[in-house]
Order: sequence, then C-alpha cells, then structure tokens
Amino acid sequence: MSLATTPVDTHARILGIGSYRGSLIVPNADIIAAIDSSDEWIQQRSGIRERRFADEHESVQFMSVEASKVAIQRAGITAAEIDCVVVATVSHLLQTPAIATAIAHELGTDKAAAFDISAACAGFCHGVALANDMVRAGSATNVLVIGVERLSEITDPGDRGTAFIFADGAGAAVVGRSETNGISPVVWGSDGEYFDYIRQREDWRDVVGTPEEPGSGVMPFLTMQGSSVFRWASFAMAKIANETLERAGITADELDVFVPHQANMRIIDAMARSMKLPPHVRIARDIAEQGNTSAASVPLALDRMMVEGEARSGDKALLIAFGAGLAYAAQVVVVP
Ligand code: COA
Repeated sequence: MSLATTPVDTHARILGIGSYRGSLIVPNADIIAAIDSSDEWIQQRSGIRERRFADEHESVQFMSVEASKVAIQRAGITAAEIDCVVVATVSHLLQTPAIATAIAHELGTDKAAAFDISAACAGFCHGVALANDMVRAGSATNVLVIGVERLSEITDPGDRGTAFIFADGAGAAVVGRSETNGISPVVWGSDGEYFDYIRQREDWRDVVGTPEEPGSGVMPFLTMQGSSVFRWASFAMAKIANETLERAGITADELDVFVPHQANMRIIDAMARSMKLPPHVRIARDIAEQGNTSAASVPLALDRMMVEGEARSGDKALLIAFGAGLAYAAQVVVVP
C-alpha cells in the first residue's frame, strides 16, 4: 500500500536574513600577550584585525533571538508563521534539550518543530539544505535556520593555534515557499578520516573524572591542526564550490557574490584564485573585523554584504562552509 503524501507544489527561497554580532570589539593588541604573537603576524596569517566577543549577557539564545527577529521582520512574516526552527551550533553548553526549543518559544512561534544540528562551521549551510527540502516536501512552510556560536567560551586564550581566530555571533535566515527556485541542490559531505583536525580537546568524562581519579575540571577547549586544515580547505573546497555551481546550472561568470566560510582570509583568497572567479564576483571578507564564528560566519558575512549594498536582491550567491568533521556543505542561493 502507499501512504498519503503532503500535497505541495512549491519551490523554496530565502525570504529574509538577519544577524547579531557580539558587542565586544577585541583588537589583536588585546590578545597577543597571552599567545606571544603580534598584530602583524595575525593579520598576515589570517587577515583578522579584530574580532567580536559576546559580553556576559549575550548568550547563544540571546544572540539567536536578536538575529532571528531581524530575519523574520525582513521576511515579511510573523514568528507565529514559523513552523520549524533549526539551530546549528557547537557552543551551546547545555547539551540537552535543544536550544532551538527555547529560541522558538522566546520568539513566539506557535509550537514550531525545533531541533539543533551539529555540523560545526558547515552547520548553517546544512540547515539551509534541510530547510529547502522541508519546504519543498511540505514538512514545513517557513523554516528559521540559525547559525550561532559563542566560541570565546570554549577557546583557550593561551592557545597559539586558535586564540586569535575564533569569535562570537549569530546569523539567521527564513526559508519559505516561492514560485521560482531560489536555492540550488546542496553539495555536501564529510572527510571523517580527518575527524581529529578540529575538535573538542577532551571528552566531558575526562573533565569530570571519577571519585578515584578526578578530571581536570578545565573547560574542554577547541584544538586545531591549523596547517592541515589550511591545506585541506584551500584545495578540496574549491572543487566542491565548482561542483556546486554546476549543480545550480550556472557558470562562475553568472555568479554575483561569493560567501565562503570566514575561516581565514588566506583560505578565502586561495579558493577564489583556484576557482578563477571573474573580477565582477564580490567576495565576502567579514573575517577581518569579525573573526571566525563557525556556524554563524556565512549568514553574518552575507548580511553585511546586503547591508553595505555589495549583495543585492536577486543576486546569485554561492555559499560554502567547512570545518570540524571535516564536514562541508555548499549551495547557490538567490539573495532575498
Ligand atoms: N603567533 C605568532 N607565531 C605563531 C603563532 C601565533 N599565534 N602560532 C604559530 N606561530 C609560529 C610557529 O611557532 C611557527 O614558527 P617557526 O616557523 O619558527 O617554527 C610559525 O609561526 C608557523 O607555524 P604554523 O603552525 O605552521 O603556522 P601556519 O602558517 O600554519 O598558520 C594558522 C597558522 C592557524 C594561521 C593557519 O594554519 C590557519 O589559518 N589554518 C586554518 C585554520 C582555519 O581556518 N580554521 C578554521 C577552519 S573552520
């Protein structure tokens, strides 16, 4: 026998984007002493001049709600019309329940489905892919996708390989029905053989320990094999980006905006070179003033380009994100 299906015949697109940046502006000068570094070294190796950290009141939930309010308002709908909330994060430190449920409630959705996903820096692009499929399949009408991180809390300020990179913020997008298609098929995957390249340093059980052998009691910070990640991202991700253009049925000449994960300015430049992007394609470079916000980096960067007029409504934007796992996802979207 065949069961009933949800009768919908629709495309999907991003209806609105919003973002929220941690309010503390932290220049390189403020972090170099703890890692025996210099402003010049950090700028040269990563392109980062300053980063945004959350203050004590700017929780994962707070930043998510602020970014979402803007996205919902720009989408021209109300929170009650959101029927699914997907939150991509690795830095909400209460493991259960999903922070998405609290965010859905605070926003005033009407009992929206709500769950978290863990795909690290690629989380937002995973969320957009899921939202696209949910809307087209009729499982949801308006999906709120949030990428949010408060990485300052899980970054060791004395670790030379990570302390200057990671930062805090949130980005949100409402994905809803559309007469024309505004989200391409996703190209995604994982290279699990490199599972160890970026990870939480210790298992929580090692931190807690046992009565006989107490654990360290120290926050299990992020650790990263920087140069290995650098080599992987610079080469493998340009190939994925080109494949995504192909799946979207467009050439690099037809692309308007390139929004790669804001991991490191040198990776962004290497990808653009390797893809041979034509000069008219505008490239997101939010990292210089924001740092790397993992799941939040793509929507933060896209929102900035929209606000500054570098990305205009109707533009075709290639989103690509990659990180711990190593997990990656990319799609072309029409800018709302
Ligand atoms: N400040 C100053 N010097 C530093 C330093 C720091 N924070 N960290 C390392 N160094 C020194 C090392 O001691 C080494 O010195 P040596 O040549 O005298 O031995 C030199 O700089 C090179 O170290 P290395 O670790 O090879 O640096 P790198 O060129 O790979 O740059 C990163 C380090 C982290 C900037 C770079 O690997 C990177 O950006 N990787 C990708 C990270 C990323 O994007 N992660 C996010 C993915 S989601």
